[in-house]
Amino acid sequence: MAKERISPAKPFRGVLTVPGDKSISHRCAILASLAEGKSEIFNFSAAADCQSTLDCLRSLGVHIEEKSSGVIIEGKGLSGWQAPHKRLDAGNSGTTIRLLSGALAGQNFTSEITGDSSLQRRPMRRIIEPLRQMGASIEARQDEFAPLKIRGGSLRPIEYSPVVASAQVKSAILLAGLFSEGETSIREPVRTRDHTELSLREMGAKIAHQDGFVRLQGRPRLRARQVAVPGDISAATFFLAAALIVPDSELIVQSVGLNPTRTAILDFLSSIGAPVSVVALAERDGELVGDINVHHAPLKGGKISGALVARLIDELPMLAALGPYTEEGIEIRDAKELRVKESDRIAVVAENLRRMGAQVEEFPDGLRVTGRETGRLRGATIDPHQDHRIAMAFSIAALGAQGETIIRDPHCVSISFPGFFKLLHTLLHLDSSG
Ligand code: S3P
Repeated sequence: MAKERISPAKPFRGVLTVPGDKSISHRCAILASLAEGKSEIFNFSAAADCQSTLDCLRSLGVHIEEKSSGVIIEGKGLSGWQAPHKRLDAGNSGTTIRLLSGALAGQNFTSEITGDSSLQRRPMRRIIEPLRQMGASIEARQDEFAPLKIRGGSLRPIEYSPVVASAQVKSAILLAGLFSEGETSIREPVRTRDHTELSLREMGAKIAHQDGFVRLQGRPRLRARQVAVPGDISAATFFLAAALIVPDSELIVQSVGLNPTRTAILDFLSSIGAPVSVVALAERDGELVGDINVHHAPLKGGKISGALVARLIDELPMLAALGPYTEEGIEIRDAKELRVKESDRIAVVAENLRRMGAQVEEFPDGLRVTGRETGRLRGATIDPHQDHRIAMAFSIAALGAQGETIIRDPHCVSISFPGFFKLLHTLLHLDSSG
């Protein structure tokens, strides 16, 4: 079985870029396939999850050309997708299954979509319910889990208040809203990532965020476009954390997406004493992009709860693993959503932190990781439970530990960041072994 070995790191300095943003890449591909004309998406994420989206779109009759610079997608218009000959496979990707389900609900054919064993355990009623209200007929295992069988058709607009703060749920409803006549609106007490909204606006749809509601006018003609995907801030987070863990280190991550619905990680890191700054901020294709600078400094630690959770949901495994490197530790609450991600991220983070000697208290909705007083982490064998963000978070935590850490099944990082270990080893001049 493949393993990745991580040794304690020496101080490093570097300038790097991270892959194109995964969330934005999914949206660019799906919306380009529904647009009129040929779109060119530069810096499209190489993540396996985004490949799953492209594979599903191809099964729906969309022509896609992949080049080293990005992908070219021939849009079919809102009603140009074809009934697939086989069940669509979203792999490990929650974004693929939930967003595509929204668009499939508006099609004049029946389709089935599923994913790997992890995806088949993740909750789908959150999208099934609003899509049914809009007029789609959806069957699911235990009325909750994939495979989903979706009989689409003419949809009616709804006004909907999702039970969970989720950009995937919001986006599924917006995608279905494209196919309904009139205004679809979604209440968002906690604002989640708005890449779907920004892309739709750039492509000519009428969409607005007002008084806690996102409102979309249905049946727009979407214009094809050329778009460059910014670097993924969730991927950049692992390297920012590396610089904060390894004394005397300094790092610049260039051309990172800095959409305000995604930058809570930078605010939180600053609030606990991390010297993080943004330079060269500019707008590109509707999204903010800039460079992030960070250098090592002692961290205070702190608590993440309430509205903040949805705004840095994907960064929580890394923040928890940063806990033992802080003065007061890290506490995460109101985050029960973490239990239904690619793995049960509360349990899996707690299990692996304990293996490294950290003191962790687990709650139904989060965890508390004790700070430096517990002593230095020690190298251990980490089981990421096939979860890419766990494998990356613990590879970084290992950089400051005493002794070597072994990451089992390291290949799972390719779900979001195929070049992660290569970049890490290059940056740190570590020896890699399999
Ligand atoms: C995503 C939204 C978040 C996030 C996921 C990507 C998206 O999920 O955790 O990695 O691209 O919309 P939820 O919508 O379930 O919070």
